[in-house]
Amino acid sequence: MDGSGFIERLSAVDIFAPLSTEETARLAGASVSHVFAPGEIVIRAGDEGSSMFVVHGGRVSVQITDNGKPRTVAVLKDGDFFGEMALFTGEPRAANVVALEETEVLEIGHQAMKHLFDTNPDLVDSLSHIIAERKVGLNAKPENGDNVEVESEGIIASIKRFFGFD
Ligand code: CMP
Repeated sequence: MDGSGFIERLSAVDIFAPLSTEETARLAGASVSHVFAPGEIVIRAGDEGSSMFVVHGGRVSVQITDNGKPRTVAVLKDGDFFGEMALFTGEPRAANVVALEETEVLEIGHQAMKHLFDTNPDLVDSLSHIIAERKVGLNAKPENGDNVEVESEGIIASIKRFFGFD
């Protein structure tokens, strides 16, 4: 059974748009809700992580430390997702993610995603493109923009390796 509005929330997430109704319902059933208070850390940079999160209500800020100073690289709201970088590449968490207000997130684990890759191979491509763009955003150097395609090919390979596909 899914919680309140999980299916509607997940079906409105762009990367999950290609999923069938059954797949979205199964994903909702495998999702776990967590509520964070304002200022609470959802993800800590450098940690290991094997799940991703969809914002179900509220807002989070993605922050890195740049020359010793905190810098906000993005603010994510209802329907946005985060935590996909460590989940899909096996790398440590690339940034802190902090609740800006009371925020409910839906946590999706490795196993639930692996299942979806079997039936939706295009998901790997769309995720790797988003990860490549976000990596460029973390570096915040506009001249890196051209590298998204190249970077995304490397990420496709690492996602496939990490999830045990050829
Ligand atoms: P992960 O590295 O697992 O944990 C931190 C998360 O912050 C990361 O996954 C992304 O989901 C998110 N993130 C990193 N960089 C950006 C960015 N430039 N824009 C939006 N979200 C980002």
